[in-house]
Amino acid sequence: MAAKTIAVLLLAICSFFTLALGCYSEGYLGKWKMLKRSIGISAMHMALLPNDRIVAFDRTNMGPSNITLPSGKCPNISKFIDCYAHSVEFNLANRSVRVLTVLSDTWCSSGALDPDGMLVQSGGYNDGQRVVRYLKPCPNSDWVEDPKGLIQPRWYASSQILPNGKIIVVGGRFQYSYEFIPKTSKSDHKLYQLPFLKETNYYRRAENNLYPFTHLSPDGNLFIFANDRAILLDYVNNIVVRNYPVMPGGFSRNYPSTGSSVLLPLKLLLNNTTNTPDAEVLICGGTLPNSNFHANKGEFLDAAKTCGRLVITKENAEWEMEDMPMNRVMGDMLLLPTGDVLVINGAAKGTAGWGVAREPVLNPLLYHPDMPSSNGTSNANIDFSTDQGHQGRFLILSPTAIPRLYHSTAHLLSDGRVLVGGSNPNRNYNFTTLYPTELSLEVFYPPYLCSDNGKSRPSIAWVNPSVELGYKQKFSVGFHFKGKSDTEKMYLTMVAPSFSTHSFSMNQRLLVLALEQVSETSTGNFVVEGYAPATTALAPPGYYQLFVVHDGVPSRGTWVHIK
Ligand SMILES: *[C@@H]1O[C@H](CO)[C@@H](O)[C@H](O)[C@H]1NC(C)=O
Ligand SMILES: *[C@@H]1O[C@H](CO)[C@@H](O)[C@H](O)[C@H]1NC(C)=O
Ligand SMILES: *[C@@H]1O[C@H](CO)[C@@H](O)[C@H](O)[C@H]1NC(C)=O
Ligand SMILES: *[C@@H]1O[C@H](CO)[C@@H](O)[C@H](O)[C@H]1NC(C)=O
Ligand SMILES: *[C@@H]1O[C@H](CO)[C@@H](O)[C@H](O)[C@H]1NC(C)=O
Ligand SMILES: *[C@@H]1O[C@H](CO)[C@@H](O)[C@H](O)[C@H]1NC(C)=O
Ligand SMILES: *[C@@H]1O[C@H](CO)[C@@H](O)[C@H](O)[C@H]1NC(C)=O
Repeated sequence: MAAKTIAVLLLAICSFFTLALGCYSEGYLGKWKMLKRSIGISAMHMALLPNDRIVAFDRTNMGPSNITLPSGKCPNISKFIDCYAHSVEFNLANRSVRVLTVLSDTWCSSGALDPDGMLVQSGGYNDGQRVVRYLKPCPNSDWVEDPKGLIQPRWYASSQILPNGKIIVVGGRFQYSYEFIPKTSKSDHKLYQLPFLKETNYYRRAENNLYPFTHLSPDGNLFIFANDRAILLDYVNNIVVRNYPVMPGGFSRNYPSTGSSVLLPLKLLLNNTTNTPDAEVLICGGTLPNSNFHANKGEFLDAAKTCGRLVITKENAEWEMEDMPMNRVMGDMLLLPTGDVLVINGAAKGTAGWGVAREPVLNPLLYHPDMPSSNGTSNANIDFSTDQGHQGRFLILSPTAIPRLYHSTAHLLSDGRVLVGGSNPNRNYNFTTLYPTELSLEVFYPPYLCSDNGKSRPSIAWVNPSVELGYKQKFSVGFHFKGKSDTEKMYLTMVAPSFSTHSFSMNQRLLVLALEQVSETSTGNFVVEGYAPATTALAPPGYYQLFVVHDGVPSRGTWVHIK
């Protein structure tokens, strides 16, 4: 058989996001599956390590969980001997749970993976507020704690990995500052003031600006959104380089008015490897500023229905506002390997906090960033048989049966599914109340996983010269694909694993790689040649999941490492 070679130079980046009607044309809106009834704890915080283990942890100072530590391993935490585990490792390969030992209170803390794939997690409550905890992605590893790892106590802070491999920790309750961890150089021992966090704490009650949304801009600065305002920060020199307009609409977007935020896919261009592509942030959901006050009196106000988009790399950028099909607070936003955004979990009324949300929203939403604006298009308006169906940016997906309210989490898995866990909107574990504590892990299959109707997926066979990538490096990916192929609809994406808590996935990042050519070397065997990201500001050093996408359907991800 003569080898067929189709060389395609992908010049127009827009062709990377072509419509994929295959699944949708059959009305496939995804499905849910119970993965594990109980992992013994409620997954308030969740991270995926490059060994495909999920690390989950709760808080430590509110009594028993549903899983115990082996005898003789009970630590003295929060002033008493505690034989319950509050952190576990979940093995995706065989669904087994391994208990981990935390030694201080991790309640409402933050985290990031470092360049070696180690989880660096910081802050919390009481004895945990200045602790930095480390967990290596190794068999039998356990938490190692540095009790004085932070200069300031940080409860409800956000973490972001930086181009130099350090992690910046921003804010916390009544903490109007930031700092860098782990502390290895002189500048790491310095505390940097951030008045913006005081200015956005409008009522001086530590409200509506906690867990600020932090995104590393491709120009190397840090985008920070709190309450309804945003800045671009040169964190090295502690200079605000840009003040963005107030997000219109009068809603607050950060805890307890918890919305969510993503940095939309960064599209890298061929033969322009030194450029900084434009970067856009999408923020959805939230509540009116006084919603928590009302909810505590039993009045549950409608959550925000709006999303805002802002091109953060542009001077004089303006918010582009649009409506979701339904109101939502505490929705998690996840970047899918295709470059689409999933909005999942949350409620339509009330706010974040103990028992203060109502009307769980059980349907996730799929958001297509490159479609024309929808302003709330619902499935009712979508004609699945034609392109007309995708005039809007939103698609309402299949519902789960389990409410996922305060303290729930979501994470993209390497196989393209989405893991959902947590929800404990109660003081203690309580299984007999309106919205009981959830110990389960479910998975959601996004519409691209049309195994039900036989639509095939690309499957990665190899990465050359190796999965260890260098910046700007040219590399190739071999993959198999059965069925009708179109090389113009093939592209590569790289997704950074995130740390999910309080509806915000810290460090989430997706790069659409610059491609040189895609060829079919023999029937069903393809090679795509592309370039690794050019700079550490585009892709901080560390592990990423690499996906081949064909016509809106991603392969399973392969872990790659860039440094
Ligand atoms: C976990 O929950 C189950 C079912 O309620 C109960 O039987 C079991 O004793 C609990 N385990 C622990 C360690 O609390
Ligand atoms: C646990 O630690 C506290 C101090 O944090 C101490 O007062 C207490 O005696 C310790 N308990 C035990 C059983 O060692
Ligand atoms: C799951 O896999 C891990 C790692 O290979 C192993 O240690 C563990 O015993 C397995 N658990 C079960 C229930 O098979
Ligand atoms: C892009 O650069 C590659 C290698 O540097 C070159 O072979 C190719 O022709 C260039 N393509 C365009 C469109 O300039
Ligand atoms: C490279 O990208 C930048 C930013 O997107 C753009 O302004 C510039 O024109 C591009 N240069 C070339 C040679 O395409
Ligand atoms: C969506 O509708 C609102 C008014 O309901 C309008 O202000 C906004 O500009 C619209 N957004 C887009 C992108 O069309
Ligand atoms: C669970 O919640 C119910 C209703 O709020 C309450 O009556 C009960 O005391 C709670 N149980 C525990 C163990 O906290």
